[in-house]
Amino acid sequence: MGFPENRMRRLRSSDAMRKMVRQTSLNVNDLIYPLFVKEGVQIKQEIPSMKDCFYFSPDSIVDEAKEIQRLGIPAILLFGQSAERDEQGSQAWAEDGAVQQAVRAIKKACPQLLVITDVCLCAYTSHGHCGVVNNNGKIDNDKSCDLLAKVALSHAQAGADIIAPSDMMDGRVGYIRQAFEENGFHDTAIMAYSAKYASAFYGPFRDIADSAPTSGDRKTYQMDPANADEAMAEIGLDIEEGADIVMVKPAICFLDIIRRAKAGFDIPLAAYNVSGEYMMINAAADAGVLDRKTAIMEMLVSIKRAGADIIITYFAKEVAKLLK
Ligand code: PBG
Repeated sequence: MGFPENRMRRLRSSDAMRKMVRQTSLNVNDLIYPLFVKEGVQIKQEIPSMKDCFYFSPDSIVDEAKEIQRLGIPAILLFGQSAERDEQGSQAWAEDGAVQQAVRAIKKACPQLLVITDVCLCAYTSHGHCGVVNNNGKIDNDKSCDLLAKVALSHAQAGADIIAPSDMMDGRVGYIRQAFEENGFHDTAIMAYSAKYASAFYGPFRDIADSAPTSGDRKTYQMDPANADEAMAEIGLDIEEGADIVMVKPAICFLDIIRRAKAGFDIPLAAYNVSGEYMMINAAADAGVLDRKTAIMEMLVSIKRAGADIIITYFAKEVAKLLK
């Protein structure tokens, strides 16, 4: 059969009809909201490169966490940084570091809210790389893993529910899982940035964490945007090493990777709707060339339709309000 018996437009004829046959829906439970912590007290400071995003000190972030919980968003993802930087990034695992303090304060005030912490060295190292740099200028992969496991353990000790390594060193998920097992953190989950690409879309974020490398780039550890099979290998290894959730990052230029990951693996899949994707919509909406709310919803639904179970997005608060 074909036209005129079949008319696809019949099921698009009214709002109720469209709602009834809608195949993908966003839910507030799918969302994770990123937040930025820095040392100090009573800080809530606007981030110039990221509309409506702020740096919080560990004391002032608690009110923000309460607001997020009130909106029904199940989880936050904390990023830290330190003014005190060295070659190894040792402030990253300081017991009284900004992230560790923030985790303790938030878990005390909002025990139901899931606290996820980004684990990396780039916002703590003097050179801005995500790992340790040797004398020859190369990244020392295995030494970096040792330090990343220390960072992850300090977050777990502070009470983080999930830790999220974003460095892309080989083997780091295994190092972290082993450190957790040895120290009794059997229930601390790992959400691995498994397929993280060397992307131009982190532009606004690097401003935030002040973490752009002082020399070189991240192409020896983050993935080449041209590769898809390699992403499946990365995800497979992270699962073998003990990841509970895997992630594809960025999202919208990598919807095919999300699709393949969903088809190929059986554990929860997250996608990171990154800073450049966020600011692209903001800039276009501010320029009056597209409708902000419609564009946000279309972008996030596309990420879900591609196969993501979880979406990390700076739009989470706005979307939670739109979904109410
Ligand atoms: C740190 C890190 C980055 C992001 C998350 N963790 C920056 C980078 O790798 O250069 C990007 C987040 C975003 O752009 O929203 N390794």
